[in-house]
Amino acid sequence: MAETAAIVLAAGVSKRMNTQLAKVLHEVCGRPMLAYVLDACREVGIKEIYVVVGFSAEQVKEQFGGADDIVWVEQTEQLGTGHAVLCCKEHLRDFNGQTLILCGDGPMIRAQTLNVLIDKHESAQSAATLATAVLDDPSGYGRIIRDSYGNMQGIVEDSDCTPAQLAIKEINPSNYLFNNKILFEALENVKPDNVKKEYYLTDAVSGIIATGHRVVAITAVSPDEAVGINSRAQLSAASKIMQQRIQRRLMENGVTIVDPDTTWIDARAQIGQDTVIEPFTYIHGQVKIGQGCRVGPFAHLRHGTVLKNDVVLGVYTEVKNSLLGDGVRARHHSYIGDALIGRNVNIGAGSITANFDGENVNRTTVGDNCYIGSGAVLIAPLELKDGSNISAGTVVSQQSVNELGGKAKTDVSE
Ligand code: UD1
Ligand code: CA
Repeated sequence: MAETAAIVLAAGVSKRMNTQLAKVLHEVCGRPMLAYVLDACREVGIKEIYVVVGFSAEQVKEQFGGADDIVWVEQTEQLGTGHAVLCCKEHLRDFNGQTLILCGDGPMIRAQTLNVLIDKHESAQSAATLATAVLDDPSGYGRIIRDSYGNMQGIVEDSDCTPAQLAIKEINPSNYLFNNKILFEALENVKPDNVKKEYYLTDAVSGIIATGHRVVAITAVSPDEAVGINSRAQLSAASKIMQQRIQRRLMENGVTIVDPDTTWIDARAQIGQDTVIEPFTYIHGQVKIGQGCRVGPFAHLRHGTVLKNDVVLGVYTEVKNSLLGDGVRARHHSYIGDALIGRNVNIGAGSITANFDGENVNRTTVGDNCYIGSGAVLIAPLELKDGSNISAGTVVSQQSVNELGGKAKTDVSE
């Protein structure tokens, strides 16, 4: 690949989302939508990403602050996508390579599609190449205008289309690759002559064609990838598609998902081979599940959960920020929060960790081979030694354990 920089547009106000939060921070399967766009750039090997921010810029920078391949560019007034790109001029005016432009509100684009775009751009030696999509319902998107030979003539925004143009099904998903020098020259000539009175990046494409340069449009983007998120309805539609991708990847890796439609798994979750996820299971946040586990139905796993191998979690079991060792069983109605649970521990129906004392969240440590009877309340901070045996219905505090010589034996079985 020739030297390539990327610009990601993420400054827009997003009236249609009706939100106080920057649009690109809204989550798709647990990750802000901008994260997916940045990943796609990285996956195709781009080392320098200019992210244009404006509305709620500080929030966005804070979330992605640690990344050293990002250069933040401020667009103080949101005057349109063309203006947003022009804000990168001070960084890119002398750059002789090619520039990929993506939108922060288009998180569905995949690296493999960007590679098709890059290959086409380089083989056609064009000044600009667009990856387009053909949609049954193209409404809302810019339409691709071609002449009778199929040559690209320009892009017309939905709000500026004639009735005939509205019927065009080929749309612009905003995945472009430009010769950088030609792009910035063309942007200088863009005028806000449109319904919205904005400086459109799409007009730069028409400008490049008008000056006689070659512009190519390749229909490489699937309808799934073309979804741009302008509204809450599109946010949930995109999340649904992303969820299918996540589940498909997990199934290919050897995970059984009994009922994909009633299961929700965070993009950050890792799940090992031969684990079975039963229906109505909700996994949110960074969660790591080992091999041969059985999770659900109706299980809720939250951020920071680690299940080692052969763990069984049943109905209405919630786990948060806890590590459960090999072979732990918590089959019914448990809450395990901020706990370290050893190997082969049985947690009876309805047993919980009382991890919050009203002020602080406290940890519970349970050794290997412990038996926790039904309905036990483990009051944190608490440490139970290996082999502890807690009888059903017991309320266990550290003090009560200490009085028993450190090893909890509230049951008489020994
Ligand atoms: C844009 C395209 C349209 C395309 C669609 C694909 C233009 C003029 N139109 O329309 O052809 O079909 O995307 O989803 O480019 N932004 C800024 N600064 C601004 C304005 C926008 O950074 O001043 C950012 C937004 O945050 C957003 C992206 O640019 O991430 C696209 O802007 P948006 O207003 O959503 O454009 P669309 O109307 O969706
Ligand atoms: Ca958009």
